[in-house]
Amino acid sequence: MIPSRVNIRQFHRRILRWYTETGRNLPWRGSITPYATLVSEVMLQQTQVHRVLVKYPRFMAHFPTVRRLAAASQRDVVAAWQGMGYNNRAVRLYRLATHIVHHRKGRWPTDLEGLQALPGVGRYTAHAMMAFAFRKNVPVVDVNVRRVLSRVLWRMRHAGDLRPENEIWDTAHRVLPRGRAYDWNQALMDLGATICTARSPRCERCPVRAVCSSTGRMTPRPREKSVGEPARGGIPARIYRGRVVELLRPRLSGLTYVQLSRLIASEFSHDDVLRLEPIVDSLERDGLVRVIRRRNIPSRVSLA
Ligand code: ADE
Repeated sequence: MIPSRVNIRQFHRRILRWYTETGRNLPWRGSITPYATLVSEVMLQQTQVHRVLVKYPRFMAHFPTVRRLAAASQRDVVAAWQGMGYNNRAVRLYRLATHIVHHRKGRWPTDLEGLQALPGVGRYTAHAMMAFAFRKNVPVVDVNVRRVLSRVLWRMRHAGDLRPENEIWDTAHRVLPRGRAYDWNQALMDLGATICTARSPRCERCPVRAVCSSTGRMTPRPREKSVGEPARGGIPARIYRGRVVELLRPRLSGLTYVQLSRLIASEFSHDDVLRLEPIVDSLERDGLVRVIRRRNIPSRVSLA
């Protein structure tokens, strides 16, 4: 349900005008291939725009087409991902590329069901491909869009409050301006990233201030101590995993488990070495590393 007090036509007009006047000129905007859309969206899911701005053109220069990506080795793809973090995403992208090339003759599905049936493609990515690559009338809801729609359409009391995700998807379908889905989705993302920010929204500069249900009414969101990342003895698991991949990346034949433990101990602590095995196991499960074991004990680790 859309709360009836909000003037949706005004909301459309103001957002679209603002986007036409101030929209960011990002390299993945405009006419790009489905593959290029996919790469940019996977990168943007967990990495900030300023970093993706540097990495995306380099990755595309390396692997300009889905066929070139599928023809590479997984190791090369993970290597090109360096500096982006969350290396699982490189593996996901690579597996998807090999699926498209080997099982679909290089052709992308062009409907939501087909896209969501692809390995590693969820609701967000399928909608982003539909809206941005195929220019279809579908909403795209990431955390920025969810925040903007929650605040504009409902009266939020605290800056950290959000409406439930399924409700926002449903609402996003209802408020989509037909024929302008591309600009609308990009505009909501920009607004969430630059003005309607998580902690301290800049309502005084907001183009939809006049129609927003929450303008100037929210209490600011306190700074969290930590977002509750799973930690391993003080080091967040993500950093620990990332460091193991970094150590393996330049070493083609990998490292013995003992060498890897020593390198980890010199950077972190001896206690952290005790936590190396579950980390290596989880990287192996995700297909990022290959582990050779002797009598069930890891003896050599390399990038997969
Ligand atoms: N975040 C996710 N997708 C994005 C896009 N296309 N533009 C800007 N930020 C984004």
